[in-house]
Amino acid sequence: METTKLGLPFPSFIAGKKDLKYLFFGGKGGVGKTAVAGATAYYLSESLGRKTLISSTNPVHSLSSLFGQDLWKKGTQKVEGTRNLYADEIDISSTIERYKGEIKDRLVQFLKFADIPVDVEPFIEIATTNPSFEESAMFDDMVDLMLNEKYDAYVFDTAPVAHTYRLLGMSKVYNLWLNKMIKSREESMSLRAKLSFRKEKIVQELKKDPLLISLAGTKKKTEEARKLLTDSERTAFFFVTLPLALPIAVIERFITWVQAFQIPIGGVIVNEVIPTVTSEKLSPYVANRTNEQAGYLKLAEQKFPGMIRAVLPLFEREVNGVDMVSKMAQSLSLDSETRI
Ligand SMILES: Nc1ncnc2c1ncn2[C@@H]1O[C@H](COP(=O)(O)OP(=O)(O)O)[C@@H](O)[C@H]1O
Ligand SMILES: [Mg+2]
Repeated sequence: METTKLGLPFPSFIAGKKDLKYLFFGGKGGVGKTAVAGATAYYLSESLGRKTLISSTNPVHSLSSLFGQDLWKKGTQKVEGTRNLYADEIDISSTIERYKGEIKDRLVQFLKFADIPVDVEPFIEIATTNPSFEESAMFDDMVDLMLNEKYDAYVFDTAPVAHTYRLLGMSKVYNLWLNKMIKSREESMSLRAKLSFRKEKIVQELKKDPLLISLAGTKKKTEEARKLLTDSERTAFFFVTLPLALPIAVIERFITWVQAFQIPIGGVIVNEVIPTVTSEKLSPYVANRTNEQAGYLKLAEQKFPGMIRAVLPLFEREVNGVDMVSKMAQSLSLDSETRI
């Protein structure tokens, strides 16, 4: 296995991680996360023969457009023109609605329990009208998929980095919340039990308490997700960037976050690199862009030492259709310094 100054190349990295099952792609909008995720899924399924699911919870129909076939809201579909690749383009608006319902139920029960007579609607508005709510719904769908165990590999075209970061902190909060709820519930129940001498019945009721059941369910799921997301044998977060200042800065920040929570980093993929052309007659524009690009490639090497898994070329056209995905997968599978 050859380690270059950039880092262990993508195929060697994958080959060295036999149990790798969950792959995430993060980065600024428009850098090619969906394209690179698709190429990775194609590589895992076609070259390694692993039954692979690529899923997207983007509000735009990105997988349909990537593979050039209608996958929107169709559930899991085999990608035509592939042998072992499946795609699931999820519509999170239904998850969001389900989620609003759950939150409302919890609030109603909580306020009833705490004996606070207020109108819940404004609280629901506050709880559900913020950008992180959508990300929570997306995350929930993702965790459900991760836990279903039907595929050898799962590729997620957008890593909800900010949410994962929050989630790992949240699992502690859930624990505190749940333990406190159970304790105070038990205390108030046992008082009633003492008064009514029907302790057995009340303990039975406690076990059926919808708020406790729902909280315990969330807690369990959060814990399972946390276990998977921090397991470097099974999970890897990849960060996609262009050879430009802003997308490099974005993933630098992401990487700092995920490192703080021991989320395993798969590495960095530099996308849309203009292949070097050597000619006397380069237009000043191309010459300048090529120069600039060389500077940013160097910057990426310095900022992400030993972490660059692939350097992918800017293709002559967009990555649309299985042929182009396969072409990108081929670039991804180059295992040497001459990656482009
Ligand atoms: N290496 C590449 N060469 C040519 N076009 C690319 C390349 N990578 C991505 N694209 C195109 O750039 C656009 C944005 O890519 P996309 O994967 O949708 O980004 P993201 O998911 O990060 O928003 C798409 O039109 C895609 O086809
Ligand atoms: Mg995308």
